[in-house]
Amino acid sequence: MYDKGKVLTGLAIFVAIVTFPVWYDLVHAQHVPKLEKPTLSKKCVADIAYMRTSHMVLLDNWRNEVVREEKRKLIDVEGKPYAKSLQMGCMKCHPDRKKFCDECHTYASVDPFCWDCHFQPKKEAN
Ligand code: HEC
Ligand code: HEC
Ligand code: HEC
Repeated sequence: MYDKGKVLTGLAIFVAIVTFPVWYDLVHAQHVPKLEKPTLSKKCVADIAYMRTSHMVLLDNWRNEVVREEKRKLIDVEGKPYAKSLQMGCMKCHPDRKKFCDECHTYASVDPFCWDCHFQPKKEAN
C-alpha cells in the first residue's frame, strides 16, 4: 500500500529540485523591455507586427526614398501628416530614444549607428 499523499508530495519536491535551474532563470530573467507608450497617436506608421520585426527595413526605405529619390511626401497616420524621417517622423511619437528604441536594442544587443548623425530630440525640451 502506498500513501498517495506522500508520494505526490515527494514527487512534487523532486520535480521542483530537478527543474530549479529552469524556473529560477525564468523568475530572474534579464530585464525585459518596457516600452514608453506613445501618446500622440494610437497607431504606428505601419502594422504593429510589421513594425516589431521590420522597422529597420522601413527606415531604410524611407531614407532611400527621401535622399535618393527626393520623395518627401508626408505620410498620414490617423489623419495627421508625419515626415518620412527618423527625427521628424518616428521621434515625433516615440520622443524618448532611451525609453523606447534603446529598451529593445539593449535587450537585443543591437546598437544602430544612426544617432552618430541624426539628432535625438531631447525630451526635456518639450
Ligand atoms: C503617429 C505616431 C507614430 C509614429 C510617427 C511612429 N510610431 Fe511607432 N508606434 C506608435 C504607436 C501608437 C505604437 C503602439 C501601437 C500598439 O501598441 O498597438 C507604436 C509601436 C511601435 C513599435 C512596436 C513596439 C512594441 O510594442 O513592440 C515599434 C518597433 C515602433 N513603433 C517603431 C517606430 C519607428 C521605427 C518609427 C519611424 C519609422 C515609428 N515607430 C513611427 C506610434 C508611432
Ligand atoms: C520592440 C523592440 C524594438 C523597438 C521598440 C525598436 N527596435 Fe530597432 N531593432 C529591434 C531589434 C530586435 C533589432 C535587431 C533586428 C535584427 O538584427 O534583425 C533592431 C534593429 C534596428 C535597426 C537596424 C540596426 C542594425 O544594426 O542592423 C535600426 C536602424 C533600428 N532598429 C531603429 C530603431 C529606432 C529608430 C527605434 C525607435 C524609434 C527602434 N529601432 C525601436 C527592436 C526594436
Ligand atoms: C553619416 C551620417 C549618417 C548616418 C550614420 C545615418 N544617416 Fe540618415 N541621413 C543622413 C543625412 C545627411 C540625411 C539627409 C537629410 C535630408 O536630406 O533631409 C539622412 C537622411 C535620412 C532619412 C530621411 C530623412 C530624414 O531627415 O530623416 C532617414 C529616414 C534616415 N536618414 C535614417 C537613418 C537611419 C535609420 C540610420 C541608421 C541605420 C541613419 N539614417 C544613419 C546622415 C546619416
